[in-house]
Amino acid sequence: MTNNNTLTSRLYPTRIDIPAEKRKQIVVILNQTLAATADLKTQAKQAHWNVKGKDFFQLHELFDELAGELEEYVDMVAERVTALGGYALGTARAAASNSILPEYPFDILEGKDHVAALADRFAAYGKHIRDAIAQTDNLGDADTADLYTEISRTIDKRLWFLDAHLQVAEVKGENGTASNTQKTAVLR
Ligand SMILES: [Fe+2]
Repeated sequence: MTNNNTLTSRLYPTRIDIPAEKRKQIVVILNQTLAATADLKTQAKQAHWNVKGKDFFQLHELFDELAGELEEYVDMVAERVTALGGYALGTARAAASNSILPEYPFDILEGKDHVAALADRFAAYGKHIRDAIAQTDNLGDADTADLYTEISRTIDKRLWFLDAHLQVAEVKGENGTASNTQKTAVLR
């Protein structure tokens, strides 16, 4: 783990004008994002392959679209790490050990359960991305903050797409998932 920690903040000599101390901290955040993004991308694929039920085709397609977007973000985040002189940690093993997300549930079958599993993870990922906008902005890196803002806007939209599949049942209390507080908040 110490080896990994060193790698997450490793810097090469570069002519970029952002101070090394700032870049070191930004690279650590970006490598966390890289791990979570690669992890979430494989989870969207897992849903794409294994979803069953009457909505199979549209969900199969939607999940693939989500995975495709995340794949682009993997590349954008990794290349921001290297643009800052950092070392990108992008293998599957690095993603598995550094991701903030829980493993995908392997015992679910139906469309709504896959949608809910992905919605939970998109929400957690979206929070990480939004926090990173402020963190990288505070570290004086408007470009990384802008990259995070771009990702954040799409992730919020995708969370809406996922939530929209569940909201009717949640408002009616049919899923057994929405608390009274959530229902009130939804209906207000
Ligand atoms: Fe496919």
